[in-house]
Amino acid sequence: MEKIPSYDELKNNCDDFQAQIIRFLKVEQDLVNARSKLDRDLSRFKAIQTYSQKVINALSLEEFASITVESVVETFEVECSAFFMYNKSGNALTVQSQFGFDNEIKNEWQLNGEWISLKGFQKNGKVSIDQVVPDSVPFGKAGLYKVIFSPYYDEDENLHGMLTGGVSNSKKAYYDEITEELIPSFMVFTQQMSSLLRNFEAKQFLDMKVQQRTAEVVNQKKEIENINEELKQQKEELQTTNEILENQKEELQKTLERLKFAQSQLVQSEKMASLGQLVAGIAHEINNPVTFISAGVESLNTNLEEVRQVLDIYHRITPRNVAEKIKEIEDLKGKIDYNEALREIGNLIDSIKHGTERTSEIVRGLRTFSRLDEDVLKVANIHEGLDSTLILLRNKYKQRIEIEKHYGNIPEIECYPGQLNQVFMNILSNAIDAIDDKGTITISTVKSNDKVQVSIKDTGRGIPENIRTRIFEPFFTTKEVGHGTGLGLSISHGIIEKHKGKIKVISEVEKGSEFVISLPVKQGKG
Ligand SMILES: Nc1ncnc2c1ncn2[C@@H]1O[C@H](COP(=O)(O)OP(=O)(O)O)[C@@H](O)[C@H]1O
Ligand SMILES: [Mg+2]
Repeated sequence: MEKIPSYDELKNNCDDFQAQIIRFLKVEQDLVNARSKLDRDLSRFKAIQTYSQKVINALSLEEFASITVESVVETFEVECSAFFMYNKSGNALTVQSQFGFDNEIKNEWQLNGEWISLKGFQKNGKVSIDQVVPDSVPFGKAGLYKVIFSPYYDEDENLHGMLTGGVSNSKKAYYDEITEELIPSFMVFTQQMSSLLRNFEAKQFLDMKVQQRTAEVVNQKKEIENINEELKQQKEELQTTNEILENQKEELQKTLERLKFAQSQLVQSEKMASLGQLVAGIAHEINNPVTFISAGVESLNTNLEEVRQVLDIYHRITPRNVAEKIKEIEDLKGKIDYNEALREIGNLIDSIKHGTERTSEIVRGLRTFSRLDEDVLKVANIHEGLDSTLILLRNKYKQRIEIEKHYGNIPEIECYPGQLNQVFMNILSNAIDAIDDKGTITISTVKSNDKVQVSIKDTGRGIPENIRTRIFEPFFTTKEVGHGTGLGLSISHGIIEKHKGKIKVISEVEKGSEFVISLPVKQGKG
């Protein structure tokens, strides 16, 4: 039979149960509490995750900070949040972004070095919660009641900034009290934010570098384009200049051609002038022998007629009338002075011969002189040139001026003979012109080294010192209009230069002048 428990036993058991039930209830309460705490933490971590995804797309530091403060308020269900950054040079924390404040934290309200070291935030600071001193800067001024501070650090563990959440005096009734419970998740949030911020800053730095680089490249490209443009312009300018030069060159060439033409015209006109002067003299020169010849021919005709009459009688002689005809011939011979006629015929023939020779001499001289136009290098005899020129000039000097020739043993030289003749003509004419009445012209030639020297010296009036340097100028003349062109010496100078020779003048007033020409025997190439 089972023993019935006593009242005391039952009571004790009952108490035990009661106590056990209370314990169970408590444990259950704890479990419920733990469960809700876990639920809260979980939702916070989810919020942190959402925050991370959001903030990663921030385009600027401002946006990053503003997303952060909004997320702090959302995640931790606090009233407001501020994002501070550490300013190293000022050793102060300044607000970068804020959310949910009635009185905003002003930019100049800084947390200075003193505050920072008081908090121990310089290095490895911990999250802390403060009851705010009213009117303190900046949180008291902003009207806050309680604040949670969470410093964050850069990779070298130097203070980088601070994240805060807070509740204001005026609204603290509507919010949960900020307690220690918030610290771990706030710390996780801050750490997550800090590493995202570092990434963000690194990315921004890279972006900035890329932008800088891009800007540099763009600038360089622009510079290159500018340089290119300049080069193009310079090229165009050069082309224009080139064209101008080309045009000028053409102009110059045309002018040169015109000048050459004008020069040849001048040479021609000087030639004409000197020839014109000569023609009169030459006509006279030729007239002389021609008169000789025609007069001679007439007398010759008369004399020959007489001789023919004698010959006629001879033809009529037959064996029967020999004596009679001989007598007739003797009579006729006596009548016409036959021997005298024969002698005269001889003389007349001589005289005609002389006249013809003189004429052909002049013609030959003209022909030699008229080689003027020849522009081909030839080997020619200088003496022949001088002599033919003298023949043409004879009328101007004969019976007035004595010509003395001292011809040396010189070789023939390579030259343009017609042109040299013109030089001799010009200088000899000048010499003749310089002698007023009687005088002498001495022509000497001599060879020295590979040159030939021709000197034409007159005993004329000489060239005054003050014009001596001007006589080779074109159109310089001291002669009356119609007598001088002033081109003779200038043209002669040109011709001698063309022969790579030299011409110089020595002169003494009242005594005379000497023109000395030196010419190379060979012209050589070029
Ligand atoms: N032998 C000379 N004696 C004196 N004067 C001379 C002599 N040769 C040249 N002249 C001077 O040089 C000037 C220039 O000579 P030139 O060129 O032949 O031109 P032009 O004979 O037509 O005057 C002459 O006008 C003259 O004054
Ligand atoms: Mg002259």
